[in-house]
Amino acid sequence: MIRKIDHIAIAVRDLAAALRFWEETLGLKATGTEVVEEQKVRVAFLPVGESKIELLEPTDPEGPVGKFLARSGEGVHHIALRVDDVSAELARLKGLGVRLIDEEPRRGAGGARIAFIHPKATLGVLLELCQRDEGGLE
Ligand code: CO
Repeated sequence: MIRKIDHIAIAVRDLAAALRFWEETLGLKATGTEVVEEQKVRVAFLPVGESKIELLEPTDPEGPVGKFLARSGEGVHHIALRVDDVSAELARLKGLGVRLIDEEPRRGAGGARIAFIHPKATLGVLLELCQRDEGGLE
């Protein structure tokens, strides 16, 4: 079951510069930054109502976000949908023959369980499924 838009992720070259815009110009407040080694990114979340903006700065140009920046420049990288059970949703989509990037859930920022659906299957948008356990980081 899909509940809401958990976050919209934006790839940036300079996280500090991006935070100056989102915090000082727009008036949002980041909840802190975190490095996700596996994804080779430094991440900051800025809550906006029930959803969040996720800023992604590569820590390695050879990582997925580093390659995205080289190919497409800064901009929207993915949209994340909050689901109750990411494993169940993956199994359901697999059963429908949907092309997935992640066959199994993995760890995302904030301890979430996440999985990506291939943009070829979604008409051009990289979609993330995101499950956050009760009591976990919102
Ligand atoms: Co994300």
